[in-house]
Amino acid sequence: MPYANPRVTLVDHPLVQHKMGILRQSATPTSQFRTLVRELAHIEAIFATADLETESYEIETPICRTHAKRIAGPKLAIVPILRAGMGMVDGVLDLVPSARVGVLGMQRNEETHEPEPYYEKVPVDVASRDCLVVDPMLATGGSAIAAVKLLRERGVDNIKVMVLVAAPVGLDALLAADDQVHIYTCAIDEGLNDVAYIVPGLGDAGDRIFGTVA
Ligand code: PRP
Ligand code: URA
Repeated sequence: MPYANPRVTLVDHPLVQHKMGILRQSATPTSQFRTLVRELAHIEAIFATADLETESYEIETPICRTHAKRIAGPKLAIVPILRAGMGMVDGVLDLVPSARVGVLGMQRNEETHEPEPYYEKVPVDVASRDCLVVDPMLATGGSAIAAVKLLRERGVDNIKVMVLVAAPVGLDALLAADDQVHIYTCAIDEGLNDVAYIVPGLGDAGDRIFGTVA
């Protein structure tokens, strides 16, 4: 379903679509699920970092002196929302190994579906960094909204949220809650069921990454 908003990027590269099909299947085992989450985060991060600033500098090849480019500008912090966001961290770190990692613990209340923050540890210099919030699922949007709000309170200017599956209602809510945030997602699904799970979705991302269900 098309979702037209310049602050939402749908990363629907053919490799992403192929991997998402396997990820969604209930028969996919934990080990493969984990690998796919990491690979998808890696591909998605290429798109989410496409606007990083660069600067020119001189290098010497075996043939002559020439110019090359290197990343410049603000440094990056990856901010996973616990638990499921942890599954995406290494995929981003593979690309940006010098990034710092700050974690936010949020547990969605099963009755109200509201996020309940339980832990926060972000880099001391987070206000001077660009932040990439990572979490596989954007359902009601409550957890991502709470994470973005907390980072704004810590002084962060540039925040991007990377998810694998988003519900339109969650996208609407996050865009309305913060007028600067940019969202990257590998899929935009139909909606939510009566317990606020994404349909068709992939189930409980945290349980599938950590293998905490039978
Ligand atoms: C899941 C998911 C998101 C949140 C999405 O986490 O990883 O953080 O729910 O739902 P929302 O958009 O309605 O807030 P959960 O709270 O189940 O915790 P877990 O990662 O520990 O399993
Ligand atoms: N959290 C999940 O892990 N999956 C959903 O579909 C919604 C919230």
